[in-house]
Amino acid sequence: MPIDLPSGVAWLRSTERGRAWLSVAPRLVDEAAEQWGLRLGVPFEAAFESIAVRATTGDGRSVVLKVHFPDRENEHEADALARWNGGGAVQLIAHDRVRHALLLERCIPGSPLTGVDPNAALDVLIGLLPRLWIGAPQPFRPLTAEVEWWLGHLEQEWEQARRPFERRLLDVALDAMPALAASQGEQVLLHQDLHGGNVLAAEREPWLAIDPKPLIGEREFAVAPIVRSFELGHTRRQTIRRLDRMTAELGLDRERARLWTIGQTVAWSVGSNFLTQHLETLDWLLDA
Ligand SMILES: Nc1ncnc2c1ncn2[C@@H]1O[C@H](COP(=O)(O)OP(=O)(O)O)[C@@H](O)[C@H]1O
Ligand SMILES: [Mg+2]
Repeated sequence: MPIDLPSGVAWLRSTERGRAWLSVAPRLVDEAAEQWGLRLGVPFEAAFESIAVRATTGDGRSVVLKVHFPDRENEHEADALARWNGGGAVQLIAHDRVRHALLLERCIPGSPLTGVDPNAALDVLIGLLPRLWIGAPQPFRPLTAEVEWWLGHLEQEWEQARRPFERRLLDVALDAMPALAASQGEQVLLHQDLHGGNVLAAEREPWLAIDPKPLIGEREFAVAPIVRSFELGHTRRQTIRRLDRMTAELGLDRERARLWTIGQTVAWSVGSNFLTQHLETLDWLLDA
């Protein structure tokens, strides 16, 4: 029986590349399972650009087989997990670069950090971030290059998406990011998508990060996905409190962190399913 696709990947049908991947993804899962001798279980429902399936290895270990839609941001997901080597993130057990398949340690129970009290969740993230900030130059894309890419594409994407938000927001982001990129502090490995749904309850450690979209850049950038994580409390007060707590407790420059969050949130808002929430967050951050 071929594996069922999770409903969250339906958006991939809107592009030719997406459709092509959807048509081969179940086969890639089967081939990867065969190559690693896995018994496949039930797929996870909360997947948006991948198929992640509960699986068991030949020697009885509980694992996850993840086959992801190959895109720019997750190109080096496996490399980042390999660098962290289990410290604060799930362990990469094996990797197939051709099929974009990852064999991962399974988090059990695997419930997301979004289920706990927002302040306690922030304590967890403040504990995790410095463990993920390791020096690791290769093969990751520098934040500077990501900013250049955004500068080259964002306005056109925004036009093509029929201007989903006001011009002023685009201008704030496009004005702030080149100056930030050119004046960064120490370069470390960053998890560009560390929202509450990408941190799971586990046994080896209480909480482990999954699903990195890695970049190399300064620490201030790392707060962006967390400040923006509406699942951790979506009011002005809670959003600003995340920015304040993380920058104070991790010794970060608050203004740079605020501007990076605006920049990355604008860049990720075009085409996002969460545009409404992101626009509210941006509104709160503009005068914070
Ligand atoms: N190592 C893991 N242990 C337990 N559950 C996992 C693991 N990796 C992924 N999952 C589950 O699969 C879902 C999708 O995986 P994720 O890596 O977040 O993919 P996507 O890029 O599609 O968001 C997660 O939200 C989680 O529910
Ligand atoms: Mg995810």
